[in-house]
This record gives sequence, structure tokens and C-alpha cells, in this order.
Amino acid sequence: MFLRLSSNLVITGTLCSNRLIHWNYFLHNSMLAFVLLALTLCGTTHGCEEGLYGPDCDKTCSATCEFGRCHSSTGRCRSCPPGRDGSQCNRDCKTGMFGHGCDKYCSRYCWSGSEACDPVDGACVNGCKAGYLPPLCVDTCPPGRYGINCTSDCIGNCLDGKCDHAYGYCDKCPEGKTGTRCLDDCPSGKYGMDCAEGCPPSCLNGLCHPITGQCEACPEGFKGISCNE
Ligand SMILES: *[C@@H]1O[C@H](CO)[C@@H](O)[C@H](O)[C@H]1NC(C)=O
Repeated sequence: MFLRLSSNLVITGTLCSNRLIHWNYFLHNSMLAFVLLALTLCGTTHGCEEGLYGPDCDKTCSATCEFGRCHSSTGRCRSCPPGRDGSQCNRDCKTGMFGHGCDKYCSRYCWSGSEACDPVDGACVNGCKAGYLPPLCVDTCPPGRYGINCTSDCIGNCLDGKCDHAYGYCDKCPEGKTGTRCLDDCPSGKYGMDCAEGCPPSCLNGLCHPITGQCEACPEGFKGISCNE
């Protein structure tokens, strides 16, 4: 054990002679904190060199442990690599879970519900339900695509090419168009965005251009875009 003074007091050394505990501790103000640390290390726990365990520290931690590290008394792995679980990391995460520590849920938009995803990276084994993007099936399809695994292109005249991520219906139609795929002109007498505007009643037969709302034709004796001149 040695002590060294720098900007902070740095103490590095080995405690508890027969069991190696490597420690170093940066003392800022509190000697008490150091004493407590030393007592904790020597008193209630004892350690072996990394990768070893047992009363005499002569057993090797299982190679299945993450970084080959285990608890010095029990030999239980300290942590497992992603996708693995159990005291010796010898099991996959339980069904429906994945990741480091098996603490993440598979997406409920995996094709087969949350039952099947890769235990390591969470990729859904059987692809995604309609509207969700592989491999994780967490995000919705990018704009312009829809359906199972997002493999279908939006069809029709959808505004900005965007459609419902699951079924492909247009989110919105451009001016003058209507229908689930925006393939139809506004019904007669209507025009504009969402076909919400009524043609001027002064147009011949009440008909106007589906986008601009200009009269298609005027009754005898009238002229102008709204036939009111
Ligand atoms: C979706 O992707 C999965 C995984 O690649 C594949 O097994 C499945 O057949 C796909 N489904 C469709 C309908 O394309």
C-alpha cells in the first residue's frame, strides 16, 4: 500500500492480504469515505481477481459470462452478453424479451405478436404487421410506403404521395380529388381541397372546375369566371 499526494490524494493498493482487492480511491475531502470503503471491502465482501471465484479464488468463471466476470463467492456471472440470461448466461432471454440484461420487450407489431424476436437485437423473426418497418417493427413505414413489412408503394393520387401506413389509403387528397386513393374528381358542384367548396350557383348547371372552381360554362347572357358579369 502506498500513498501519493497530487492535486487530490490518490491511494492505490491491495487490501485483505489473502484475497486480492485492487482498489484506488480519490480522496477529495473526506477521509471518512475512504475508511467506509475499506471497511466495506474487507468486512462484508471479499473479492478474487477478475475471472476467478471460490473461497480460495482458484475457480475460473464460466466463459459464458460477459467479459468472463463472475461474483467471487457464488460464481454467478456478473452480467450476460446481449440475448443471454441465467446465472451462467446459458439461456436465451425468455420469449418476448431481448437485449442486454434481457430487459427490452419485442415489439407488439412483430408479425407473430411480441412472441418472436431475435434475443440479441430484437429483430422480429417473421417480419412486421402491416404498417411497421422491419427489422424492429417499432417505427411506422416511411412516407410513400405501407403494408406488411412496408413493402407496398402508396398508390393513387395521395397528397405528397403519403398514405395510411397500414392500409395504403391516402391521408389527404390534392385539390379537386376524392376517394380512398384520390382517384375520383370531386362530385359535381364541388371543388377544391377535400371537395369542400361549392361551385358558384351562377355557373351553368352549377358545374365548375374541380380545382379552381371556375365555371365550366355560363348561362346565356353571362360571362366571367363565376358567370356573374
Ligand atoms: C415479412 O418479412 C419476413 C422476414 O423477412 C418474412 O419472413 C415474411 O415472409 C415477410 N412477409 C411478407 C408478406 O412479405
